[in-house]
Formats: sequence, C-alpha cells, structure tokens
Amino acid sequence: EMPLLSQCFNLLDFEAVARRVMKKTAWAYYSSAADDEITVRENHAAFHRIWFRPRVLVNVEQVDFSTTMLGTKVDIPFYVTATALGKLGHAEGEVVLTRAAKKHNVIQMIPTLASCAFDEIMDAAEADQVQWLQLYVNKDREITKRIVQHAERRGCKGLFITVDAPQLGRREKDMRSKFDEDEGSDVQRGSTTDGSQGAARAISTFIDPALSWDDVPWFQGITKMPIVLKGVQRVEDVLKAIEYGVQGVVLSNHGGRQLEFARSAIEVLAETMPVLRARGLQDKIEVYIDGGIRRGTDILKALCLGAKGVGIGRPFLYAMSTYGLDGVDRAMQLLKDEMEMNMRLIGCTKIEELDESLVDVRSLFNH
Ligand code: FNR
Repeated sequence: EMPLLSQCFNLLDFEAVARRVMKKTAWAYYSSAADDEITVRENHAAFHRIWFRPRVLVNVEQVDFSTTMLGTKVDIPFYVTATALGKLGHAEGEVVLTRAAKKHNVIQMIPTLASCAFDEIMDAAEADQVQWLQLYVNKDREITKRIVQHAERRGCKGLFITVDAPQLGRREKDMRSKFDEDEGSDVQRGSTTDGSQGAARAISTFIDPALSWDDVPWFQGITKMPIVLKGVQRVEDVLKAIEYGVQGVVLSNHGGRQLEFARSAIEVLAETMPVLRARGLQDKIEVYIDGGIRRGTDILKALCLGAKGVGIGRPFLYAMSTYGLDGVDRAMQLLKDEMEMNMRLIGCTKIEELDESLVDVRSLFNH
C-alpha cells in the first residue's frame, strides 16, 4: 500500500504519503499549526500569487545555482531548518537529515529540541560539513551559555535564536493526540512536562518569555558565531536587527505554529527588501525566509525578491518518516532538478542574476 519512492514526483507527494502511513502522534506533531491553521495554509498559498516575468533568448546551457549562506558555499539556496523531535518520525532521528544534507552539500540547522543528542548530530557530520544551531533561550542563562559555547567549540557556524516563541502556540491537533514523553527521548527538558497537552507543550516549558532586544549584546559577547534572529515578521524589526549588528534574520512564522494570522514570510520579504534598498541597507544583513517552500519555483521567487536562502522544514520530516534517508535524498534531488529547469525557463544562469524584475508581485498584496 506504500507507493514506491520513485512515485514521489515532488515534495507535496511525500506529505500525502506521510499523512497515510505515519504514526498518529507523529503526524499530529509534525503537521499541526496554530488555531484554525490559516497561517500555515497561507504560507504556501502566498507563493501562488507571485508570477514570473522570464527573460528569453538567454544562453542557459550551463546553469549554476550554488551560492553562499553566512559565508558557507552551498549547492542550492536552501537549508534544512530546525524541527524538534526527529525520532517521532524515524528511529534514528535528526542524523538522517545530517547524512542527506551532506550528500547534497546543504546546511542543517540543529534544533535545541532534537531527539538525538547534540553531539551525536555533530558526530554524524563529515569534517567539512557545515551545521548551524537553533537556540531556544533558557530562563537559566548559564544553561544557554553552555549550549552556545559548546556548539561553537564543536564547530557550528551560525547561531539562530528563535524569537517568535515566548510561549508555544496552541496546536490543537497535537494537543488532541496524547504524547508519551519517551517518544521524544533525549530532548532538553525543563522543570515539569505534561504529555497530556501534546508534544509541543511537553518539551517547551524552559523557554524564557522575558527574552528581549536587551539580551542581544549578551549573545554577541558569549560567541563569535554569526547571530541570526529566527522568526522576524515586520520590516521595523529587520531595521532593528541591523541596528543591533546581527548578521541575519529569518523572516518566518514558525511554519504557522505560533501566531495565527501572522503573514507569510514571502509577503514580509516583499515588503522588507524595498525598504532596505531605499536606505542602502540591503547588504548590511542576510535575509532568509522559511514557511511553505515546497517547489523550486518557490525558492526562485524568494531569491528574486532578495532572500539569501530559504529554510525547509516539514517536507524533509515527511520524506524521512516515510522513506528514511532515501526519501530525504530524493526530496533534495527533486528540488535541485526543479531549480535547474526553472532557472533555464526564466532565463538565468546564476543566482546573482535573480532580481525583482523577474517576478510580478502585484497580486501578492492585492487579493
Ligand atoms: C518546527 N519549527 C521549529 N522552529 C524552531 O525554531 N525550533 C524548533 O524546535 C522548531 N520545531 C519545529 C517542529 C516541527 C514539527 C515543525 C514543522 C516546525 C519551525 C521551523 O523551523 C520552520 O520555521 C518551519 O517548519 C518552516 O515551515 P515549513 O517548511 O515546515 O512549512
């Protein structure tokens, strides 16, 4: 009853298989989003309101879509974003994503709440493989300091501080499905956990809701890793991030799992970059987006609008949960194939050629 892997022709196909075959608690935790799940749907739908304005008669025989992110050269402008509890979907957990990331020369962001121990994920990587750390900031800053400095010593090349989760969003699908703490295994735990409130609530009680802009210099003082704020949702905060001297932001609504009626990251990006350009600030910070990216064309649209790269979450979880490493490998290859073809079809041979003239965003805002 499982389709062959070769029958998955795009990232959405993995989701359809996962919905049918995954364990109920795992599917509920991975797929759930806040409240009525309006934002999570908008995340992908927003891409459908952007159209291309391709160039023709460009020699596109040779196409190269490699680029850099925080100084690291990658084969294609996406990274595996941080998603907690990898062992809910696959017995080996996050290291499956590590191996696929290596094969495709893309970066993996390691979640604070990984099922595998942090060192196990670092050890699973090859010597030259780049990984980033996603940080949930603990109320006990000594714990946070230890995590950050350990990650830096182990060779992590970027610190992504999650700023959109002072309290976990209400994910009712997840709450309805009772979570047994043992399923998550090695995750960092706070004081008490309560599995009856779903997987998300059970693991997140240590997160500090008092985290503020005033803490940013403290982070800059404890690490030399580039700092990126993950979960920024308005241009005013991007300007503030530049003032505070951080290296990047991820425009993101946490896959629709936090604030319901947060806008899609692609829309926030389209609002942000013209403001940065008008002030000559576009090179002062690297802007990433995540949420709803499922197609090569989605990646292209984000890059045309000024993103340095994009994060992808659920599709790799679904591919891992259904077909393991082979699934994630195929999902990444499908994105590369889609990227290559669509670069040709819009008349571009390199990432530097992607610009806003190649997209029509009139209906992005007016719908
Ligand atoms: C997440 N996300 C997330 N983000 C974060 O900063 N720390 C975390 O622990 C998690 N955990 C997590 C678990 C699961 C199951 C999902 C689906 C998401 C958010 C994630 O990094 C990213 O913002 C979104 O997943 C991007 O949207 P897509 O690609 O899943 O649509």
